[in-house]
Order: sequence, then structure tokens, then C-alpha cells
Amino acid sequence: MARTTTSADRLLALFRDNARRVHARGLSHMKIEDHTVQPGLMTLGGHRVHNFGDCSYLGLGTDARLATAAKNAIDRYGTSFSSSIAYAAVPLYTDLKERFERLMGASVALAPTTTLAHAAALPVLIRPTDIVLMDSAVHNSVQMATQLLRANGVDVRTVPHGDTMALDSMIEEASDNGDSAVWCLADGVYSMSGEPAPFSHLTGLLERFERLWLYVDDAHGFSWKGRHGSGLALAQMGWHERLVIAAGLSKSFAAGGGIVANPNPDLIELIEVCGPPLTFGGPIAPAALGAGIASADIHLSSEIDERQQLLAARITAVTTTARRLELPLVSEDPTPIFFVEVGRTDLMIEIGAAMAADGFYLNPAAWPAVPHRKAGLRFTVTISLDLEVVEMMLERLHHHLKMAGVLDRTVIDLRGGEPAIHLP
Ligand SMILES: Cc1ncc(COP(=O)(O)O)c(C=O)c1O
Repeated sequence: MARTTTSADRLLALFRDNARRVHARGLSHMKIEDHTVQPGLMTLGGHRVHNFGDCSYLGLGTDARLATAAKNAIDRYGTSFSSSIAYAAVPLYTDLKERFERLMGASVALAPTTTLAHAAALPVLIRPTDIVLMDSAVHNSVQMATQLLRANGVDVRTVPHGDTMALDSMIEEASDNGDSAVWCLADGVYSMSGEPAPFSHLTGLLERFERLWLYVDDAHGFSWKGRHGSGLALAQMGWHERLVIAAGLSKSFAAGGGIVANPNPDLIELIEVCGPPLTFGGPIAPAALGAGIASADIHLSSEIDERQQLLAARITAVTTTARRLELPLVSEDPTPIFFVEVGRTDLMIEIGAAMAADGFYLNPAAWPAVPHRKAGLRFTVTISLDLEVVEMMLERLHHHLKMAGVLDRTVIDLRGGEPAIHLP
């Protein structure tokens, strides 16, 4: 018997259709054709392209020291030490955790991915009577964890992205709720637009509302910014007892895994012992732990400052050139992620394909990665890209946007757009 088509089926079909259209032009779900990776470059569909979609911002993804440490870890502990950390873990866990606690200046729980770090932390930190205020553009991994909260009976409300006035009034309203906590969930750096969270505003809110807690996913702010690479959120806000920071280790940190940090060791122990995926799932693999330790040692040395400066020069090159060319970036904030909104998905695909033909790969972004009718091209910069290459890419992007008529339009802003629709 034929199943009735539901709105969930239609949304899934739309998601798949968008993915297929982008893939058909060689821009998504691609496999690189290189047998060894050359930093900043890759071969896609027979073309050599500069990779403006790489999140290994400090170029550590191909660092020989991390590779050697990963190989040594495999030699000693195998490719997999298959036991929940609730039973037993390899000593590399202790070594990595100790380094992270120095790096973050706080207690740290380790998780196999950032997504699992959220799924471990949020359900044990947030009680059923608490109220959660989630930024509408917060990363999908945080949004998924809020489904677990909803299942626990937590009232989860969505705040329009970047609307600090709406946030203030929603906190005021939620604070009138006995002694329950109010949790604000945000990204440190929004992974599509590159905008940072409104850190100084959030710091003020922590001071103003004593039952407010802030949970920041700083996956994209980690390593390339802050003392020892402790991230943009911490660099901007400093520690607060009601601030929880999660970060990812597979982007700029170039290893694998995720962390959750807070100054209170009791709270972190609660996550480590009771966070469901940490008890009922497997550990970080030895190779990723080994690479993580080598990366942490680099982050704890002065080398990280030099790498951060090289990246800062590339970020400045983008913002300066974009201003000269009047390129409509959604955010000119100094982060390594940038977004140019195009609007229609088909136009975005055409411009993305033209850029790839010119030798520059940028990330295509369509619904549900961005709101409906706000398709665009995201690009990142890393220290593996020469400054001249960055300039050349922006010149070509300007050219194609102009030819497509995108530069003649006015409103280029992700703020206030309808939130991405949640798939079941
Ligand atoms: C902001 C943010 N958080 C979390 C994740 C998921 O990270 P992981 O692959 O470690 O689960 C990503 C991945 O791209 C991200 O951009």
C-alpha cells in the first residue's frame, strides 16, 4: 500500500534534490582525486583547484609531527582500543586531558566528536524545568542535542539569529520561572556566515541575570584564536562560572574529537560520568589521541602565535580586498569564514561552478544549511593559501557575481532570515 506523503517527506525530498543539483555540477559530495594531499590544493573532477573550503585554518592537518604521533599511538595501542571510557581507556586520554586543562585554564571532558560532546553535556547540565533559548542559526549539532532536551520535557525556544533585543526580552520573560536556570545556546563563530557571537553583550547578560547560563559551541573559533588557541569565545569573554564552552578538534586543531570545558571540575566530572554517549559509546581512537597530544604541545608553545599571525594576515587580506571590490560579505568580522549570499540555489550553483572552472573551490550552501532563498557561497582561508591566491580568488568571485547581477542587489544579510527548517 502506498504511503501518504507527509510534509516531512517533502522536506527530505527538497534536501535531497538540492544536494543532487549541487553534486551534478561537481561541487558537493565529491571525492578528491589526489593520492597524497598537498596543503591548499585538491583535484576535483580532473581539475586542480585551490581549496577555499578547508577548516584546517593553521595548516596543521598535514603536519608531520602530528602524523608521527598518530602512527606511534597506533603502534602502541592499535587502531582501536574498543572499550567505553566508563570501563578503561588508554593512558593517552590522561595525557590529552591534562594538556587541554592547561590550554583552556579549566576542567575539560573529552568526547569522540563535538556533536557527541553536546549530546553528553546538554542533557546532564539542563534540568527539565530549565528554559533553553537557542539562537536560530546555532549549529545543527547543538540543535540535535536540543531534541534530547525536548524529550526530557525542557522548554526550548528559538531566538532570531543576531537579535540581541529579542534575546534580552526572552531572557527577562524566562527568568520569571522560579529558581530554574535559563540557558542560552550560541556558536562562537557561526559556521556558515563567519559571524562571531555578540560576546560583550553576552558577558553583560551573565552579569545581569544570575540564573543565566551560556553554552557556546566554539568549534570554529578554537585553535586559530586565543592564548594557546583556547578559542575566540574565551579570548573575548574570559571564564565565568556559568559559561560552558564546547570545541571541536577536527578543524583547526587537526586531530579528532571534541571537548566541553568549564571552571568547575564537579560539573565536568558529571558530564564525563553521566553524559550518555561517553558511557554508552566508544572512545576517541588512539591515532586521534596521539595527533591531539602533538597538536596540544604545539598550541602550548610559541609556535601557535606565529601560525595565528599568518592566518590573521590572510583574514585581513580578505576583508581589505572585499571592501575595495565592494564584495557583499555577510560578515567582515575577523574570522577565517566568509559568506557571499546569492539568493537562488541555481544561481549559486552556476557561480560556484564558474569559480571551480577558474581553479577556486568554494563551499556551496543551500537549504537546509542556510535559510530558504538565501543560498550562497561560503569560503574559508587557511595559512596554506598564499596571499596572492586569496586576492585572485576574490577578483574572480567579484567578476562572476557582477556577471550574474548579484552585486546590483542591496540586502545581503543572514540576520532575521527564517530559521533553517528542522528535519525529523
Ligand atoms: C559549529 C560546529 N559545531 C559542531 C560541528 C560538528 O563537529 P564534529 O564533527 O566534531 O561533531 C561542526 C562541524 O562542522 C561545527 O561547524
